[in-house]
Parts: sequence; C-alpha cells; structure tokens
Amino acid sequence: MKILVIGSGGREHALIWKIKQNKNVTKIYCAPGNAGISQLAQCVPIEQGDVDGLLKFALEENISLTVVGPEEPLVKGIVDAFQSKGLSIFGPPQNAAILEGSKVFAKNMMKRYNIPTADFEVFDSSQDAINFLIKAKYPLVIKADGLAAGKGVIICKNFEQAKDAVSDIMVDKIFGEAGDKIVVEDCLVGEEASFIAVTDGKTILPFDSSQDHKAVYDNDEGPNTGGMGAYSPAPVVTKDVYDKIISRVMNPLIEGFKRENISYKGVIYAGLMITNGEPYVLEFNCRFGDPETQPLLIRLQSDIVEIFEATINHSLDKIIPNVRWSNSASVCIVMASGGYPGHYQKGFYISGLDNFNQDKNVMIFHAGTKLVDGKVVNNGGRVLGVTALGFSIKEAIENGYNAVSKISWQGVHYRKDIGKKALKYFKS
Ligand code: AMP
Ligand code: GLY
Repeated sequence: MKILVIGSGGREHALIWKIKQNKNVTKIYCAPGNAGISQLAQCVPIEQGDVDGLLKFALEENISLTVVGPEEPLVKGIVDAFQSKGLSIFGPPQNAAILEGSKVFAKNMMKRYNIPTADFEVFDSSQDAINFLIKAKYPLVIKADGLAAGKGVIICKNFEQAKDAVSDIMVDKIFGEAGDKIVVEDCLVGEEASFIAVTDGKTILPFDSSQDHKAVYDNDEGPNTGGMGAYSPAPVVTKDVYDKIISRVMNPLIEGFKRENISYKGVIYAGLMITNGEPYVLEFNCRFGDPETQPLLIRLQSDIVEIFEATINHSLDKIIPNVRWSNSASVCIVMASGGYPGHYQKGFYISGLDNFNQDKNVMIFHAGTKLVDGKVVNNGGRVLGVTALGFSIKEAIENGYNAVSKISWQGVHYRKDIGKKALKYFKS
C-alpha cells in the first residue's frame, strides 16, 4: 500500500510515524515534508497548496491513500479533485471544508443547529461594522471570515482597537479576501480545550481530549502562534463536559450536515472554551490540530490507517469498539526559532537530536527543519515538537522538558509551562 501525506509540520511527522506502524504500508511519500519526515518517508517537492501537482503525482505513482494534513488543500477542493479521478483520500470535500474556510458559514451552522457558541454579528461593510462597534460592549472579538493562517482573530479591549481591527481586515485587507466579511462576537472566558474527532458522516469517533497553548510566552502572554505545545488528555474535559461536547456539539453538527446534504468525512476539530463546565465552540477546523496531533498519536494504540480507511468506506461504527488509548499522559513542547511568531533567522545547526533514538517515551517530531550537508538546521518558526509520555501528566512534563534540555540551536525558545494548567486538577 502506497500512502501520500500532504504537509510539512509536526502534525504530518506524527501522522507518518503512526502510519508506518501499519504492516500493509509499503511506501510513504510526503509533499513537501521536512528533515525528520525524510527519515521515514520519501519527500517530494510539491507545495501543499498545489492541488494539480499533487493530483498528477498521486496518479503517476498509483497512490492507494492520500492523507491531508493542513486546511489549505482541503479548502481548495483537493478531496473533490482526487475523488473525481477515483483516488482514495482522507479529508472532507470542499463544500464541507468550508466549516473551517468560512467563519461566517461555521457561525451560521452553529446558530441553525443550536450549537453553543458566542453571540455574534456578521458584517460585509466596514461602515456598518463601525456603527455597531461604537455602541458595543467590550471586550469583544473580531474575526476575518476566511483563512488567515491562524492570525485572523483579534481580541479588542475597546472601540479604538476594534476600529483598527476593522480597518486592517476590511479596508487594508491584510488577510486579502479572507477579510471581505467579519464576525464580531462576544468574548468568552474560561479554559480552552481541543476536541478532535473523525467522522464518516454518520458515526463519530472522538479522539481523547487535548489542550493547546497558543500564546508565545509563559502564562499565555504575548502574541498568538500556531501553538507552542499541547498535552493529552485535558482534565478540563471531565466526563460530564465530554458528554456535553458529544450531545450538544458533535451530534448536532453531523446531523446538520446530513440535513444539508453535505457529505462530511474526515476530521472535525472543535476549538472550545469551557466556561463553568459548559462547552462553547470558538471555532471549527476540518483537519487535525498541530501540535495536538503529536501528543494524541503517541497515546493512540490502534492502527490509524484502519481509521482512515473506515472513514472513507463509511464503516467507522465497525472499528470504534477496537480503538484504544494509552492510559499514560503525554505532552508536546514546541521548540521555536528565536523571534517567532515574528521575524526569525533560519539555517542554525540543531544539536542533540541523536540522544533519543532508543527512547520509547520520547518522540522528536520535526516541523520547520531541513537537511543541509547531512545536518539538521532550523527552517521555520515552529521547529520541533518534543513529545513525551508519562504515567501522569506531571511525569510526562518532566520527561518532555528533560528531552528539551538536551536539544539546542542558536536563538531557540520555548515555553516553560506547557501542561501546567492540567496540574491544578490533581492537587489534593
Ligand atoms: P480561533 O482561530 O477562532 O480558534 O481563535 C484563536 C484564539 O482566539 C482562540 O484559541 C482563543 O484563544 C481566542 N478566541 C477566539 N474566539 C474567542 C472568543 N469568542 N472569546 C474569547 N477568546 C476567543
Ligand atoms: N493548534 C491549533 C490548530 O491546529 O489550529
């Protein structure tokens, strides 16, 4: 079985690591991949957004299954393009991926199916938005409608900030046409969690819970990033919260798609705010989270290729009883280039990566890395996802930071408090 994975981050490295454990897999390609991925798969230099190039490659190589990591190709319709040529691909079609591709679509979907989320208004005129914002209560949140590489959400403490946000998004178009419309919504408070599930359109296979750390500095300070670390499971998602997420968020969403004749297959990722034990949806994504995938997959004891195939064949209900998660906890600490999420320098040699080859409790998933003269150098903002298991979250954190301490390059920075929020649930 030949598999193609699309993407180049830690999420894709973790997916490939897990896919490789399936005995029927004979060859894995990754487009475009990174230095770590190149140890497990053949990297091909096709960009993730080049749907035509990816299709041509998959046809030529007779790929049995394609797994899409990032949202860009999904929103561009890669699943429709592959399926029209008879190729098997894991991910939602374009009319379903719009759940992530348009925040206005997602909010209206939530409204139609009574899925708990912040109250909101939609604007397609900057003047109408300003008129509303003059009288609005603060803080509030302004979101560009379309994809904005994780930067399209601005929390505004007062009218001045809101006016600037509208001007940046709708007038100066800093996110291009993603800013043709905006959502203005209430600011929610609580603790965030990520809830990732796979669905074949009728059955939902929930993954264990996880929690991301979006802000660049400790104690959630500084600008937002793609995610500076994650852990699993997230104790904020208690059994009661879990049940509410299934009954109030996941089930109504799937029912809604069915009713609207949209065939949703693939990942549904709900970014949640848990407020006094009640889950509210902040956003939906149509793909696995990064870095959440890294701590999740290191805990997944079942075969992931079977999960992908059952999703595509509408037979998730048959495999759900066999899906197992390790009782261990896991943590992923992202090591980033100095300056990230702002400007950073690339090309520094990364030392210490050979320390972990034999360690079953630690995986070093690569994101922005590249091989130069046989050596691994930093080549992006988020560089490594150091992912560790432990009997408890406390032990996973210790194992993770112990591993981090052995790796270094010029300018490296990382948060020192990944997983700390979980510890408060275990204090006696
Ligand atoms: P999103 O890309 O929609 O997940 O938003 C990015 C981050 O902005 C989230 O992880 C939250 O930290 C924050 N955020 C988004 N929407 C809200 C909201 N309504 N209230 C408070 N924080 C929010
Ligand atoms: N970790 C956040 C995301 O994948 O969107």
